[in-house]
Amino acid sequence: MADITKTGILNSLKKVEDPNFNKDLLILNSIKKFEVNDSTLNLDLSFTLPSSNDSAQLKDKFIYKIKEDFPSLKIINLTIDAKTTVHQDLNKNQILPGVKNTIAVASGKGGVGKSTVAVNLAVVLAKEGAEVGLIDADIYGPSIPLMLGLKEKPKIMQNQHTMKIIPLSNYGVKVISIGLLVDDNAPVIWRGPMASGAVKQFISDVDWGELDYLFFDLPPGTGDIQLTLVQTIPLTAAVIVTTPQEVSLIDARKALKMFTRVNVPVAGVIENMSYFTAPDTGKKYDIFGTGGGSKIADELSVPFLGGIPIDPRIRIGGDNGVPVLYDTPDSEHAKAISQISKNMASQIHLINVKGSAASKMEILLDADE
Ligand SMILES: Nc1ncnc2c1ncn2[C@@H]1O[C@H](COP(=O)(O)OP(=O)(O)OP(=O)(O)O)[C@@H](O)[C@H]1O
Ligand SMILES: [Mg+2]
Repeated sequence: MADITKTGILNSLKKVEDPNFNKDLLILNSIKKFEVNDSTLNLDLSFTLPSSNDSAQLKDKFIYKIKEDFPSLKIINLTIDAKTTVHQDLNKNQILPGVKNTIAVASGKGGVGKSTVAVNLAVVLAKEGAEVGLIDADIYGPSIPLMLGLKEKPKIMQNQHTMKIIPLSNYGVKVISIGLLVDDNAPVIWRGPMASGAVKQFISDVDWGELDYLFFDLPPGTGDIQLTLVQTIPLTAAVIVTTPQEVSLIDARKALKMFTRVNVPVAGVIENMSYFTAPDTGKKYDIFGTGGGSKIADELSVPFLGGIPIDPRIRIGGDNGVPVLYDTPDSEHAKAISQISKNMASQIHLINVKGSAASKMEILLDADE
């Protein structure tokens, strides 16, 4: 009979079909306790996203499948804990006590798709059941309101001692952006310190409430706003967006190094505009080259979270304020973005429990501990 191993049990669990259960979240690290005594298995599972919820039905299905695969097991004690892990940091807890994780979405170069990626990561995790916020930290070129179809002005809640801005919300994501506060066509002509001040205010003067993830969509580069952000709030992690070609990679390296220099863990590299599949012939074109994202991830020992193809529908969704998960949920790009979001959530979880990301996604998914 097959030995009862952690990996064997994990493989059994992966066979279970349940609408409340997302298999992509099941990684070896999800097994918190694993004890086999004769015919008894004690198993504690922990999932990184709240949607994989502890339904009695799901538990029964897990137990049934394990017994089927390992008939020698007579008693299975199973617990499921499904919640996002918290980045424990005293300063962060003081500034944003209700926010479990803060994540910067950055790039070196402009126009590589940071805002698109930030919006879609946030929307995917919100759809999975997480509480999610998004700060548009691009004060000079805010694009989040357009991409999430937000137009109203946020309300201000004031009492004797405090003033809080109420974030707007769409697709389950709470949002604040300078674009919601100033006139659409009015250029923001503030000096650097004022722009940095706005980002600080977005952190401390907005009523964020309880969040699993608060994302920051950064402007390109490694300037004032990036510096202010890392000095204002201890970030759980940064994710770096790049396109595959060398001119983008040079700047992505700089961004990556900036975060490591200030001790912000990098949860991974996302390659955007990886390739284009012609809709008429199905032929694949590597418009900006290929493999650049995984190359710098390897080079700098950070995880490669995945690639997103070029698809005009991503741009159209952005312009119309309908994220791809709602606009074209069955498309290749929507699936890629969903997988990347879950990979990122897993890496954030690892950073919280182990202090660093796993340098390779495969290690996270397959290897035994
Ligand atoms: N994979 C993709 N396929 C097609 N269009 C894309 C893709 N990713 C982004 N775009 C489009 O490319 C343009 C630039 O993207 P986006 O604004 O997200 O980049 P950015 O890095 O945030 O730019 P900036 O540096 O100016 O903030 C947008 O019109 C967006 O819709
Ligand atoms: Mg942007």
